[in-house]
Amino acid sequence: MTSTLTTVRTVRDLRGHVAAWRKAGETVALVPTMGALHEGHLSLVALAKSKAEHVVASIFVNPIQFGPREDFGHYPRDEKGDLAKLAKAGADLVFAPDTAEMYPHGFSTYVRVGDLTEDLCGAARPNHFDGVATVVAKLLLQCLPDLAVFGEKDYQQLLVIKRLVRDLNVPVDILGGPIVREKDGLALSSRNAYLSPSERNTAPLLYRTISEVAADLAQGRGCDDAVVAARFKLDAAGFRVDYVAVRDPDTLKPLWGPAKRARVLAAAYLGKTRLIDNVPVPPASTNR
Ligand code: PAJ
Repeated sequence: MTSTLTTVRTVRDLRGHVAAWRKAGETVALVPTMGALHEGHLSLVALAKSKAEHVVASIFVNPIQFGPREDFGHYPRDEKGDLAKLAKAGADLVFAPDTAEMYPHGFSTYVRVGDLTEDLCGAARPNHFDGVATVVAKLLLQCLPDLAVFGEKDYQQLLVIKRLVRDLNVPVDILGGPIVREKDGLALSSRNAYLSPSERNTAPLLYRTISEVAADLAQGRGCDDAVVAARFKLDAAGFRVDYVAVRDPDTLKPLWGPAKRARVLAAAYLGKTRLIDNVPVPPASTNR
């Protein structure tokens, strides 16, 4: 069913719509995105719709979460296509501010979540999570939803946002949505569009390999052995591995030896494209 979709570009207009809904006693969910939407994003809209009466999606390619040598300049942008997809998915409102609305002249306040951001993607992308935490804190305060939905695809990001909301007493529930994958297992990502046909062929091996790590751990194999084997396999297939790690699923602290409950996380380059993925231990049968 296609609902009527309104697009607003200012915090003032966003607040006007949300305040009217809240005044009527209706609940609101926010789904933050950077656009270039795919079924993974739309699954979060569906989850949001099942939990709240109104769904706001935001589209903002956040400059401060990209490093100087990263892809901010050529990050895929397709607002028209995104709006059509969001209308079809049943979102009620899109907040698509420009950079000056989000970061007016003289902007100088940043949110930094410690501890969780120090390694994994935080080590490879300095300041990335400060940029994410800052923009998400702003989006939550701009919209003031009852709940906000984020994907497990960016598992470290999801935990960072949960910590931010807990530490700063932001009155919003944070919900995680499962990873949506291609038929061959590759996690959907806006950056998959960068892959050459041969890289695209190799890419599903990342998911297969971390799934094997998860299966091995569930069988009682030690984390270290499983991780070494996984790195070896990915290197041999032509990936440039950033990390393969087995972590506590709540704190992301390293685990050694056998681990019955954990998260296996990986980041690896194929050519210039950085892919990330993660799976739970024990493996979820519904997780593809
Ligand atoms: P973006 O990469 O556009 O992702 C928006 C949301 O979609 C995130 O919560 C992400 O985890 C989720 N997502 C992406 N691919 C997914 C998949 N295959 N399955 C399920 N969910 C998926 O993440 C960001 O934007 C930004 O950092 C943001 C939070 C918007 C802050 O700028």
